[in-house]
Amino acid sequence: MKNTGSSDFLEDDLPEAELLAFNKIIHNIYRRRGVDFRQYRTKCLRRRIVVGMHDSRVNSFEEYLDFLIKNPEGYDNLLDRITINVTEFFRNPETFNAVRRKIIPEIVKAKKEINASSIRVWSSGCATGEEPYSLAIMISEVLSELKENFKIRIYATDIDKAALKQAEAGVYKEKALKELKGHQISAYFQKNEQGLYAINPNLKTMINFRHHNMSSDEPLQRIDLIFCRNVIIYFTKELQKQVYANFYKALAPLGYLVAGKTESLMDINESHFAIFDLQERILKKK
Ligand SMILES: C[S@@+](CC[C@H](N)C(=O)[O-])C[C@H]1O[C@@H](n2cnc3c(N)ncnc32)[C@H](O)[C@@H]1O
Repeated sequence: MKNTGSSDFLEDDLPEAELLAFNKIIHNIYRRRGVDFRQYRTKCLRRRIVVGMHDSRVNSFEEYLDFLIKNPEGYDNLLDRITINVTEFFRNPETFNAVRRKIIPEIVKAKKEINASSIRVWSSGCATGEEPYSLAIMISEVLSELKENFKIRIYATDIDKAALKQAEAGVYKEKALKELKGHQISAYFQKNEQGLYAINPNLKTMINFRHHNMSSDEPLQRIDLIFCRNVIIYFTKELQKQVYANFYKALAPLGYLVAGKTESLMDINESHFAIFDLQERILKKK
């Protein structure tokens, strides 16, 4: 294929041989790594595969397929390129503020009414861990303000094993902490000899990191609060519907789903969820 620029690969009328090679690459990722990207939006996927292709210094999907057949370890880089892990502590702070002010106190109140002693949270698509650690910090702070003592269990899941490994290590550069206040840094991090900031072991015990594919694995259960942000946008409408239906199953009665600023709520099943905060894309299970 004549390569005049990355946008050529996003055209609908890709030459047949290129289309075949693209589909074969997706199929091979599924066969080798068990991750099925066929239900991801084609343009997003192609854009990311083109980045992987350029990393390997080839100029067409056909050449890339050949390269991957000869260098199967290249699938690691490709998977990395597809599962962009961009994230940060307290990403979209206004969303965290809404959850801090309106949702955690409500969950606490409802739990006390039924004499329950634990709160279960799920960060689905947690990348390198900043989101679940931010949740752990925020919930600990609210509980201490309310002088309440609950067992907090945060499940943090992703399909990207390398990202999960970093998340579990919980060691971050100073610039990653820009949304944190000084007192939060001193309470929840320890600066090490290399000038990196390691998450406090007490905070870590609240989080259970595990590999989980939200598009094919069984959902978790009895969850009070789900955060799933900046992931679903890459899925086809059909897959989005399926994932939201799974979140409905995962939530405890009256649980909350924080969908994130980039997600469209157009296809939300109205018998499953009510909109709790449109601005912050927060839904409540009906
Ligand atoms: C852009 S990051 C978002 C991280 C965090 N939720 C945030 O908003 O800052 C997207 C993450 O979703 C993960 N992901 C993509 N598809 C997934 C799937 N089917 N199941 C679980 N995680 C997935 C990627 O590996 C990546 O780490």
